[in-house]
Amino acid sequence: MRPFSTVLWVAVILGSGVLHAAEVPVEHPPFEKGQYVHHAPTVDDLMKDQEIKPQLKKVILKGRDIFMNTQQYRGKYVFSRLSCKNCHLGEGRLNWSGPIWPAATTLPDYRGKNGHVNSLEERIAGCFSFSLNGKPPEYGSDMMLALSAYHQWLALKAPVYETHIGGRGYSSLGKDIPKDIHYVQGEKVYQAQCAICHGATGQGKSVEGKVVFPPLWGDDSYNWGAGMARVYTAASFIKNNMPLGKPGVLSDRDAWAVALYVNSQERPQDPRYTGDVKETREKYFNFHQYTMYGTERDGVLLGQHDNTGAKPFLKPDALRPRTFDE
Ligand code: HEC
Ligand code: HEC
Repeated sequence: MRPFSTVLWVAVILGSGVLHAAEVPVEHPPFEKGQYVHHAPTVDDLMKDQEIKPQLKKVILKGRDIFMNTQQYRGKYVFSRLSCKNCHLGEGRLNWSGPIWPAATTLPDYRGKNGHVNSLEERIAGCFSFSLNGKPPEYGSDMMLALSAYHQWLALKAPVYETHIGGRGYSSLGKDIPKDIHYVQGEKVYQAQCAICHGATGQGKSVEGKVVFPPLWGDDSYNWGAGMARVYTAASFIKNNMPLGKPGVLSDRDAWAVALYVNSQERPQDPRYTGDVKETREKYFNFHQYTMYGTERDGVLLGQHDNTGAKPFLKPDALRPRTFDE
């Protein structure tokens, strides 16, 4: 299920041990009774599907290409060194790795994060603005059409407005950080289990300009407003997906600790920044109650800076309120 090139790199870095490690079973949380369990189609299925017109296939494949290699738009729509697929593994279809297709069957709907009804395009724009620390392509553009087509095709045969979806999102560990989870423990886990790929300072690794291991913090990573900046989201993602090739080896406590460690490092500013980190934390407390933004670590107030990473602006225009009051 992992792209071959990544597996190859992992093998290069970790030696033959990785093949053995890949056999460690992934203990994903079980589906609950009454939940809809989806089997998203593969590219093979797409090529064989006689019902889908060739013109549409082309657009779906374009959307997939943008999703898998969003870095081709670095400096235009993406200012981090991340691509969509880095957090939505298995081409966006893996359970407990934020499968993306549910957005196509459950939107438009109200979203607490921005307090209004969102379309699929706006949801995609959210991940551009926060997760990729970027600027979304224009609504209605060819790129948005292609990305929407990819999401919608992955949802093939799924029921519309079904919300009891097995494996949706990431948060299998719940939202509350267990007591007695410590930063120092997280640092130990990080150096032992993650640094080999993501680098000692979370910077990731690129070879000849191509990202091999994505950065976890610093200027090239997701910004303070990204869903992954919430400790619980990262903890669950890490528990079910990392270390790459042997997910499931971390205990719940180690997953929480390392998520706390990663998300207590600096990263580009939240695009919703008001100029004062404590004020911004308060204003978006429904989100930031789960992040370390605006809290102190070793006497330093996290997020109190004007650094937007490689992005030459703070807030993309696409992030705007909508009201239907007129
Ligand atoms: C840094 C990690 C990260 C990257 C990179 C990322 N996302 Fe996400 N994405 C998330 C998280 C975390 C959530 C869940 C957010 C939440 O719970 O509010 C999410 C949610 C989504 C959803 C909603 C899924 C649902 O269940 O409704 C879609 C669609 C989506 N992302 C698409 C994209 C696209 C398209 C890109 C690239 C343009 C992208 N994401 C890049 C982390 C990421
Ligand atoms: C063998 C190499 C390897 C190891 C070890 C590893 N990762 Fe990853 N990690 C990756 C790769 C590659 C991706 C992107 C996956 C993809 O695109 O399919 C990734 C993605 C991620 C992401 C989402 C993308 C981003 O940059 O934010 C997070 C968070 C993450 N890893 C955290 C961790 C943590 C924490 C550990 C240690 C417990 C860890 N990883 C261990 C290779 C690794």
